[in-house]
Amino acid sequence: MRFAFLTSLIALATGALAQSSSADAYVASESPIAKAGVLANIGPSGSKSSGAKAGVVIASPSTSNPNYLYTWTRDSSLVFKALIDQFTTGEDGSLRTLIDQFTSAEATLQQVSNPSGTVSTGGLGEPKFNIDETAFTGAWGRPQRDGPALRATAIITYANWLLANGNGTSYVTNTLWPIIKLDLDYVENNWNQSTFDLWEEINSSSFFTTAVQHRALREGATFASKIGQTSVVSGYTTQADNLLCFLQSYWNPTAGYVTANTGGGRSGKDSNTVLTSIHTFDPAAGCDAATFQPCSDKALSNLKFYVDSFRSVYSINSGIASNAAVAVGRYPEDSYQGGNPWYLSVSAVAEQLYDALIVWNKTGSLQVTSTSLAFFKQFDSSVATGTYASSSATYTTLTTGVKNFADGFLAINAKYTPSNGGLAEQFSRSNGAPLSAVDLTWSYAAALTSFAARNGKTYAGWGADKVTVPTSCSSGPGGAGVPVTFNVQATTTFGENIYITGNQAALQNWSPDSALLLSSANYPIWSITVTLPANTAIEYKYIRKFNGAVTWESDPNNSFTTPASGSVTRSDTWR
Ligand code: NOJ
Ligand code: NOJ
Repeated sequence: MRFAFLTSLIALATGALAQSSSADAYVASESPIAKAGVLANIGPSGSKSSGAKAGVVIASPSTSNPNYLYTWTRDSSLVFKALIDQFTTGEDGSLRTLIDQFTSAEATLQQVSNPSGTVSTGGLGEPKFNIDETAFTGAWGRPQRDGPALRATAIITYANWLLANGNGTSYVTNTLWPIIKLDLDYVENNWNQSTFDLWEEINSSSFFTTAVQHRALREGATFASKIGQTSVVSGYTTQADNLLCFLQSYWNPTAGYVTANTGGGRSGKDSNTVLTSIHTFDPAAGCDAATFQPCSDKALSNLKFYVDSFRSVYSINSGIASNAAVAVGRYPEDSYQGGNPWYLSVSAVAEQLYDALIVWNKTGSLQVTSTSLAFFKQFDSSVATGTYASSSATYTTLTTGVKNFADGFLAINAKYTPSNGGLAEQFSRSNGAPLSAVDLTWSYAAALTSFAARNGKTYAGWGADKVTVPTSCSSGPGGAGVPVTFNVQATTTFGENIYITGNQAALQNWSPDSALLLSSANYPIWSITVTLPANTAIEYKYIRKFNGAVTWESDPNNSFTTPASGSVTRSDTWR
């Protein structure tokens, strides 16, 4: 008995050691490969990005199945935020030319008319462009409203460094501010409209998008005051307050996790939420739950639900202990390119945990609440709620457990990274072999930022320490609005789809051409969630589109009035 106990203790300790030494080895070998992998995918001289204009980031050099030789605003902005963080903290002073090329490439792209509109009619929400800076005009999930926010965040980080280093005040005001302002104005004016999520699949509201929009408007307001552009401050702040209110509504208090999208009809467990925590991490904000900081009880509980949702869906996870790291992907229901684990999703889990450790170590204590209890029990089954000082044995047990858990995720990526260190988009759920787009720029950047967090590196915050959720969340015009889920039972033939349009801007003002596509995930129920103004009389109809032909529902229009707050579900049958 005692012997068995000792043996299992030794096994545990060796397991943990194995994780940390394989993470150490992986960080050492993969860091230079990941950095080179990022740089190879940026024009004009990246070795794998020929044809890309200066400062243009290609998503991947893959040209078929899938063709990723395009530039996405999201990928580019996240990648450059990582490079700008390296530059502004002195880790790599050679990046400045590339960063300047990036900001001017983005300034050009902002002005390119595209299927989402012109610069002043919604074009900033266009998700991707050709790498020669022309519009991509094929069908796509558009708009995607996270891009402008992420781009503003990246460029503000650089602009703040320029100001702090006394060079370029006029460059910041005359060149960078107009780019930043276009994006922030777009966020201010459009955040309340539905958007395709970061995975380009669900048209509703999306946690990641809401959170990065909130961050961008907060730091944008502070930045604008700093450079004397005071006229925008109150508008940005008002909408940031509304965004923060709305952000709270994604948390599901009964289940204990964040529902990633208001539409889509899935479990809601999604890498979207983990990416939110790491990309809105503010080391000054402690474990604030309103902004879902990495060490907040809500974000930790959510992390456990998200990770656990993959334990039984990927066969490469079978046989792994229920409290150990596993391969994770975008969301458990995913089927894109086979629906496999994603390297960047695995890195994101590790990074959230490293970020949490940074804050606990800085604070000198760690809090276990009823919300985060199940997360912490993974590392100490007898732990109780309470605050544990860094001098306590419990603190040591829990933080050691979290560190090993985090290292375990890097060890998963290490195990499934091929010997040349290349990081594709996915790796096989059944045998771990790399799959889908090769050399995904975002996979490399995600590896780099997780390694930096493991090394305890932090970057400038965005004011998350100064925000509080307004006591009453207004839902009037300009307010958060009311999420309305439209469910309609409709039998369709293959290739036929159901859309909705109606008397609101958010319902595309009765336009059949821009009517909103419903999801058929729960066929024959078609579904979409749209945020509509409160206390408003709504009229709408569903339409069918088949081979270009449009069929409207018969009269009269469907109608109802939105309440002052809360949410609404409409259950209709096509007629
Ligand atoms: C391509 C998108 O990039 C990907 O995210 C999505 O899953 C597939 N289209 C399917 O919609
Ligand atoms: C598909 C992903 O779902 C999306 O987030 C990404 O922007 C594109 N691929 C390009 O990497």
